[in-house]
Amino acid sequence: MAPSTTCRLFAGLLVVLWSGRLYANGCFSSIISFGDSIADTGNLKHLASVSDVFFPCVPPYGESFNHQSTGRCSNGRLIIDFLAEILGLPMIPPYFGIKGSGSVVASRQGMNYAVAGSTAIDSSFVEAIASGSVVINGSLGVQLGWFKQSLPSLCGNTTSDCRDYIGRSLILMGEIGGNDYNIPLSKGKSIDDVRSYVPLVIDTIISTINELIEMGAQTLVIPGNFPIGCCPSYLTTIVSEKEGYDPLTGCLTELNEFSEYHNQMLQTKLNQIRELNPNVVVIYADYYNAAMQIYNSPDEYGFTNGALKACCGCGGPYNYNASARCGDASTTLCDEPDKYVSWDGVHLTEAAYKLISKSLFQGPYTTPEFYSLCPRPSTSQGTVGLSSSI
Ligand SMILES: *[C@@H]1O[C@H](CO)[C@@H](O)[C@H](O)[C@H]1NC(C)=O
Ligand SMILES: *[C@@H]1O[C@H](CO)[C@@H](O)[C@H](O)[C@H]1NC(C)=O
Ligand SMILES: *[C@@H]1O[C@H](CO)[C@@H](O)[C@H](O)[C@H]1NC(C)=O
Repeated sequence: MAPSTTCRLFAGLLVVLWSGRLYANGCFSSIISFGDSIADTGNLKHLASVSDVFFPCVPPYGESFNHQSTGRCSNGRLIIDFLAEILGLPMIPPYFGIKGSGSVVASRQGMNYAVAGSTAIDSSFVEAIASGSVVINGSLGVQLGWFKQSLPSLCGNTTSDCRDYIGRSLILMGEIGGNDYNIPLSKGKSIDDVRSYVPLVIDTIISTINELIEMGAQTLVIPGNFPIGCCPSYLTTIVSEKEGYDPLTGCLTELNEFSEYHNQMLQTKLNQIRELNPNVVVIYADYYNAAMQIYNSPDEYGFTNGALKACCGCGGPYNYNASARCGDASTTLCDEPDKYVSWDGVHLTEAAYKLISKSLFQGPYTTPEFYSLCPRPSTSQGTVGLSSSI
């Protein structure tokens, strides 16, 4: 065989491999998102407008986003917004439209089912373990039900069309599970008590992933939990001995170890899914370490007001007060939110989410690396603006 023929064959093979890779891994025609306030772009706001559900993320939430209170629990955009931008997709609409009552948004480019305050496990179960709390009826199982109901408007009425649609979508599964722990902890359950719920939370996430794979999902991003020991809310409500704080960051060690425990168990189960479904791309998104890089050296990333003090609050060492939270009349807003990691003591600022998004989707904090699976679409070059500004 002449060398040139070999070369051409080899080049042809590369093209086939490359296009196969592009097909299997996206780049994606849509994003389907499940989760809680980390990803909610308006669902709880809508639910509160039609029922007696409480919606806390009122102005000044959204103040860096053309002063629009969109229902996002931050001053501006969330990780899911930056992910959409990186993929060259428009912002993903909330399943429940936020304008007219009862309107359900239809969009072939994706749908967001995440609801602020929601848990992975059934809300009634969480209410039972954290007696006295009211949990939004929007657990993962309920969100999956909404997704199934909306399939006709997303992809038509045939199973094969929907398999194809789901296969070409990027599924963002979370962050979810944080509230399964936050709610009992806020009702006085001990960390040891809450640790015993971790297997149930993980099983719920895993069985939802398995169901989506059965429906045709090909690429899923599954975030772990954040380092909750660095939240001003916990730093305010949990008073610890000096040894309880990480000397470098000032975060609560036991709570961060708890988050890592959840994340370890999640990753072990994700490995099992990968073994059983070698054709499905299961991506772990390491929210914990992507956030820890900021807590470890906030100044380096421009968070010069310290990493552990909320921007919006009404005083105290961490600018957090559980009985007068951001949005209440008594709270004040910091001058430069971009220099804070924490927006309200629980949720992060747009600036922190932006840096974390870049670290995840254009950097090393996903396994396998998201960026290597899905090269940036040429049409979006110059519009993302993530690389230039950080
Ligand atoms: C929660 O919502 C689901 C789906 O909308 C519904 O089937 C279920 O009855 C609701 N549960 C409660 C306790 O309201
Ligand atoms: C799906 O079925 C519904 C009700 O049968 C119909 O109104 C709708 O137009 C169908 N959608 C598509 C895309 O065929
Ligand atoms: C928290 O806010 C409440 C209500 O405004 C106030 O009474 C209380 O003193 C505040 N606590 C602290 C520690 O500032």
